Amino acid sequence: MADDTYIRLDNVGKVYPSKAGPVEACGEVNLAIRRSEFIAIVGPSGCGKTTILKMVAGLQPYTSGTITVDGRRVDGPHTDLGIVFQDAILLDWRNILDNVMLQVDIRGLDRAAYEPVARHLLASTGLAGFEKHRPFELSGGMRQRASICRALVHDPPLLLMDEPFGALDALTREQIAMDIQRVWMEKRKTALFITHSIPEAVLLADRVVVMSPRPGRIVEILDIDLPRPRRLDRVPERFNEYTGRIREIFRATGVLAMD
Ligand SMILES: Nc1ncnc2c1ncn2[C@@H]1O[C@H](COP(=O)(O)OP(=O)(O)OP(=O)(O)O)[C@@H](O)[C@H]1O
Ligand SMILES: [Mg+2]
Repeated sequence: MADDTYIRLDNVGKVYPSKAGPVEACGEVNLAIRRSEFIAIVGPSGCGKTTILKMVAGLQPYTSGTITVDGRRVDGPHTDLGIVFQDAILLDWRNILDNVMLQVDIRGLDRAAYEPVARHLLASTGLAGFEKHRPFELSGGMRQRASICRALVHDPPLLLMDEPFGALDALTREQIAMDIQRVWMEKRKTALFITHSIPEAVLLADRVVVMSPRPGRIVEILDIDLPRPRRLDRVPERFNEYTGRIREIFRATGVLAMD
């Protein structure tokens, strides 16, 4: 496993200072993510999921432990990644293709070489024909698909997604989850995906990390041993066993009260 590890979190913790006293967001987080692995993190609101993602991206310093990405200690923002946030943040004055190309422009990469990549990503997420449209002419789901394309266009080895479907309706969520699965199966990027949805985590991940309420700790890591492509409409019995197990953990940690 040692050679194969792409991201390593060793006893990582985060304490935010606040006027009312320090807030421990998460602690004792130990996780080794393999190259090309798809990891989903589920946990209650406020348990430090976004904090973990930001610390991996170098956007938020950690207060204890160590994080390494590709063998290098994270001590500030690094650029070898793509991030998708809960709300698609697109620039209204650029059309969809140019929004996806933003990463290419910012990084000073060759436009001619990357434009076909951008077009291919748009097509594979159902946005062919909308390249010249402006963001306000698209639905929320379409905008979110475009932001996923933008995170991937420069071919980063790592994709971080923080509840990318949070603001979408159930049907659109399901469709975009299938898009993400397709793109991931094609590109096999290392992916860290945060969600509140237990079925989405099981649908997409190689391993699901289940966290406790704040201060967030990893309670369990489940190996999802299901063949791909997976789908949500016809799930095998084992799918329900995984989601059932995660619900059981949430009940035991007081996150879900079922009765
Ligand atoms: N910039 C910040 N300054 C101070 N405290 C913060 C900051 N960001 C987060 N926190 C605190 O850290 C804790 C964890 O926040 P975080 O956003 O990581 O949770 P989360 O698991 O992503 O929650 P959610 O599921 O609601 O998005 C919370 O108690 C929050 O108040
Ligand atoms: Mg969050």
